[in-house]
Formats: sequence, C-alpha cells, structure tokens
Amino acid sequence: MIDGKKVLFSGMQATGNLTLGNYLGALKNWVTLSEEYECFYCVVDEHSITVRQDPAILRKRARALLTLYIAAGLNPEKNCIYYQSHVSGHAELAWILNCYTYMGELSRMTQFKDKSAKHADNINAGLFTYPVLMAADILLYQADVVPVGIDQKQHLEITRDIAQRFNSIYGETFTIPEAYIGKTGAKIMSLQNPEKKMSKSDENPNGSIYLMDDPDTIIRKCKRAVTDSEAQILYRDEQPGVKNLINIYCACTGETPEQVVAEFDGKGYGDLKAAVGEAIVSQLRPLQEEVARLEKDKAYIDSVIKNNAEKAAYFANKTLRKVQKRVGFPERIR
Ligand code: TYM
Repeated sequence: MIDGKKVLFSGMQATGNLTLGNYLGALKNWVTLSEEYECFYCVVDEHSITVRQDPAILRKRARALLTLYIAAGLNPEKNCIYYQSHVSGHAELAWILNCYTYMGELSRMTQFKDKSAKHADNINAGLFTYPVLMAADILLYQADVVPVGIDQKQHLEITRDIAQRFNSIYGETFTIPEAYIGKTGAKIMSLQNPEKKMSKSDENPNGSIYLMDDPDTIIRKCKRAVTDSEAQILYRDEQPGVKNLINIYCACTGETPEQVVAEFDGKGYGDLKAAVGEAIVSQLRPLQEEVARLEKDKAYIDSVIKNNAEKAAYFANKTLRKVQKRVGFPERIR
C-alpha cells in the first residue's frame, strides 16, 4: 500500500515496433486501472538486452515507448513512468532472487524455450534468468496487481512462487502479486496466422498492426486478414481468424462478442474486416497525434524521466534495504 492505495506494476520491452496486441492486451488496461492504484509503469530496457540490440536503436525505442505511455493517457504526475536501467534496485534484487530460484523452474518457462529456439546462436544466461528480473521488478514495489496479456501469465506464477518461498524462509517480506488479464484483448493473434500471437518480432509485417501504422495500412492489413471458408460470423474456436477479428473489435469498441455477432448477422467477412479496420483507426488516431505532439516537447519528457526515476528509486530502495537485512547483509554505517 502507498498512501492507502494498492500498488500496480507493469512494464513493456522497448524491442521492435509495438503492436496492437501490446496496446489492447496491456497499455489500454493500464490506463483504465491507473486511477484506482498507485502505479509504476516501467520501460524494461534491461530485459531487452537478453536479445542483441543496436544501442542507438534501443535508446531511441526506449524513449519512444516512454512517450507512448504518456500519450496513451497515463499522467506522469500521478503514475511513475520510468526506465528500469535508471533504478539500480531492479538488478540488485534480481541477483538476490536468483539465489532463491531453481534451474528446474526456469527451464520450464515457455518464453525461454521459444526465445532460445529463435536465437540459437545467443542462448545467454540473461535469457534464462529473465523471469527473475521480472519478479524483481514486481516485488520491488510490493505490487498487488500486474496487468499483462496471457503470454506473461507463467512469469507471474513464478514471481508468486519466488515471493512465497522467500516469505516462508524469512517472514512476510513481499506482497504476493495477482495478474490482471483483460477479458477481450488478452491474446490478440496474428492477422496472417490466427494460431500465433501478434508479435513485435513477427517477420511478416502483415500479421501485425503496429501502433504507428497509418490508416491506409491498417485498413489494408485488416482486409488481408486470414479467415476461413465457413462464410458465417460466429465467435468460436473453430474459426480462429474470425474470433480474433471479433476480439479486436470488442477490445476497441467495448462491445461484447455476442453483440458483435448480432450486429454482423447476415453480413460478410468483408464487412467485418472493414469495420475492424475502422475501429482500430479510431483507437490509434488520438494516440498517434499525442505521440507526435509530445515528441516535440523534449524538456517535458526529460523532466518526467528524471523525476520519476527518483520517485521509483525511493520505493525500490525501501524494499531492497528490507530484503538485504533479511538475508543477512551487514548494516550500512551512516
Ligand atoms: P512485452 O514487451 O512482450 O509485452 C508487453 C505487454 O503486452 C502484452 N502482449 C499482448 N497482449 C495481447 N495480445 C498480444 N498479442 C500481446 N503481445 C504482447 C504482454 O502480455 C505484456 O503485458 N516480460 C514482459 C515485460 C516485463 C513485465 C515486467 C511485465 C518485464 N517486467 C513486470 C509486467 C511486470 C514482456 O516481455 O512484455
């Protein structure tokens, strides 16, 4: 609790171009929840280097992501929006938690398996211990709730396991966090392969809607979306392409799948695809306009970066000192 409010923590990697999946699965919910909680929204640049990055591009993307958080409607006066690498407590707590995490549990992580298959030439230790850094991110702020898409659920489970293990050895130290997974946008699938999640790292750009795509590109990608030959608009697993389009439409408009099915009764896939394209364009237009406006205000973004890193470090250090004491590190002499 901070000032009587429960704590929320979440983060995104500044790797690749952000997709509609990142927005509907995470960022949009962050905005909805931001009034209710004391929030920490982190640009997790330390996680990004588990895969090789071009330094100049990483720096640029990290800033663009931080700007995007604000453009999406997160007020940096009320929400702590900052870079992970500016708060050393993340890496320090991660080291300690590494010593309370088992190789066996880390080797079961599906993201590790996927990423090591994809980057077979660079299966580094950071890729393996990635979930421990993520646990440190969350536990450092004593977060109660962590809004994420379904793909991060397993990482939340291991975070809870690590926290419970630590608490049972040393007494109540960490708040046990809960994942918050939205109803409709929690797993947006690729428009070209509805069996696969929409991803920043997809080689086929037509599978993903990027947050900075212009309206024509969005409409075109939706028109080309893979569906099926059933020729009926129903919300069911047997029609994954159509189901994904309905999910996107619902997450953009706030309607339920049943309402959408009723609305498109008797209509064709072309109508649905056009409506989904329009709904996405209306969602993203204000976001894109706000990004363009904020990018020009360098001094403002710089002040957010500085002030919020200090605020985050204050709370991070509180937990870190407590943990260091619990495990037996000597006290600081003042
Ligand atoms: P990342 O950067 O891959 O994704 C950011 C957020 O977007 C969600 N997401 C999706 N949601 C719905 N449909 C999709 N197709 C889709 N693709 C991505 C993700 O679930 C995530 O919520 N490890 C995390 C970053 C992280 C983090 C944390 C998150 C580091 N530390 C602490 C929460 C708390 C990641 O790589 O997310």
